[in-house]
Amino acid sequence: MTKKISVLVGSLRRASVARKIALNVIDMFPEGYEAEIVEIGDLPLYDFDYDDPAVTDKPTPESYTRFREQLKASDGVLFVTSENNRTIPACLKNAVDIGSKPNADVAWMNLPGGIISHSIGRMGGYSAHKNLRLALSYFAMPLTGQPEVFLGNSHDLIGEDGKLNNESTINFLKRYLDVFCKLVEDNPRDKA
Ligand SMILES: Cc1cc2nc3c(=O)[nH]c(=O)nc-3n(C[C@H](O)[C@H](O)[C@H](O)COP(=O)(O)O)c2cc1C
Repeated sequence: MTKKISVLVGSLRRASVARKIALNVIDMFPEGYEAEIVEIGDLPLYDFDYDDPAVTDKPTPESYTRFREQLKASDGVLFVTSENNRTIPACLKNAVDIGSKPNADVAWMNLPGGIISHSIGRMGGYSAHKNLRLALSYFAMPLTGQPEVFLGNSHDLIGEDGKLNNESTINFLKRYLDVFCKLVEDNPRDKA
C-alpha cells in the first residue's frame, strides 16, 4: 500500500528556501510513497479554549480539524524548516501545538518523523532543528537519528529554476530519505 507522507514547511513566505527544498525532496521519494506539503499558514494561533469542553462558545476551527486529520491519515511526517531567532519559526511551533491536542487523540502519536533544517548561514538551522527535536520528544514519535540534516548556506543550493543545484547535497538528501523511509516502514501506524 502507498505510504503517505505529510511534509510540513517551517516558513510562510512565498520564496521560502525551505519550501523549495521540500518540493525537491518530495520528488526524491521512492516508488510506493506519496509525499505532499500540508499547509500550516491558515492555522489560527493555538488556543486551548478551542479544545476545552468547558468552553462552549469557541468551536474548534475547521483548519485545526483538517490539519489533525491529515496528520492522522499519514504514515510519516517530514519537517523542513528554517530558523528564526535560534528556534523554530512560530508557524511551525503553532502546528506542533495544534497536533498535540486533544490529549485523548494526539495526531503525533506513533507518527514516524524526520527533520531537515536549513539556513542562509553556515549553521544550517542547527538550533531550530534541535528545538524541534525537543518539542517532538514529548510525543511517542519515532524520529530519525543519523544522519541529521542541517543545510547551511542554503540560498546557494537552489538554482534559478528552484531546483537543488549541488550533486553532493542531492545525494545526501537521497541517503537521508532511505533512512527516513526505513523508519516509516519499521514503524507502521494504526491509522484511524
Ligand atoms: C525573523 C527572522 C529570524 C531569523 N533568525 C535566524 C536565525 O536564528 N538563524 C539563522 O541561521 N537565520 C536566521 N534568519 C535568516 C533565515 O535563515 C533566512 O531568512 C532564510 O531564508 C529563511 O528561510 P526561508 O527562506 O525558508 O523562509 C532569520 C530570518 C528572519 C526573517
